Amino acid sequence: MNEKPKLEATTLWDYPTQSYGETPKGDNKYPGVTPAFIIYNLLQRYTKPGDLVVDPMCGSGTTIDVCKEEKRRVIGYDIAPVRTDIIQNDSRNIPLDDNSVDMIFIDSPYSDNIHYNEHPDCIGKISCEEEKFYDELEKVIKECLRILKPGKVLGWLIGDQWVKKRFTPVGFKIYQRLCKYFDTVDIVCVVRRGQTSNTALWYHRALKFNFFLRGFKYLFIMRKPDDKESKEENRKIEWTRYERK
Ligand SMILES: C[S@@+](CC[C@H](N)C(=O)[O-])C[C@H]1O[C@@H](n2cnc3c(N)ncnc32)[C@H](O)[C@@H]1O
Repeated sequence: MNEKPKLEATTLWDYPTQSYGETPKGDNKYPGVTPAFIIYNLLQRYTKPGDLVVDPMCGSGTTIDVCKEEKRRVIGYDIAPVRTDIIQNDSRNIPLDDNSVDMIFIDSPYSDNIHYNEHPDCIGKISCEEEKFYDELEKVIKECLRILKPGKVLGWLIGDQWVKKRFTPVGFKIYQRLCKYFDTVDIVCVVRRGQTSNTALWYHRALKFNFFLRGFKYLFIMRKPDDKESKEENRKIEWTRYERK
């Protein structure tokens, strides 16, 4: 059976399994692996065959596998590659030309909750309770802006954190940083399934201690502005004009 995922028409995306079709997409044992149907849906909407797609933090390579099957060209980087077709690179400095990429997908760490690897530059070693976490991811956002062609799309998947009785709205905080540089196409809510807390024990804990388990992630669909100047520069110009009045 080589069924493709359905194309989503609403902003609530839900898929029961990590992968689809006959061949695996990424490795469903990899910590924090991305559900492949998300990448499939983004490719169908925002790219065409032959376009170049980049994943700067590609983990077990889900983006690479989906792109290859859909006949898109693809480059996948990671700080600690687990496959030979993934290039070792820190996403804060991407070795690609300005305005050269047709779509970017990133499923970034969203705190220090998952142990990905031993690499000291892994952003997943920084807690989302520290401002540094957002500052480092903003460097990745700026690189995405630089390499994307104007008018093209970045998809960024991220979830919030609730640990030790403390909630951190990681999604909103990353969205604020994204909005400094990109225009918003839309925000999608992706249902979280198959996570470790999806058990009877966690269900009872959540009720007993009165907290909520994470049920969704945000998918921010952002577009690089088409204008010659960046959004940030435009803002500065607008502000200078306003001050002169
Ligand atoms: C949520 S995982 C990505 C999962 C991937 N999409 C998949 O389906 O397997 C986040 C990834 O970010 C990588 N990472 C963390 N810091 C990085 C950095 N500075 N540069 C590049 N990759 C980084 C981690 O190694 C990890 O593989």
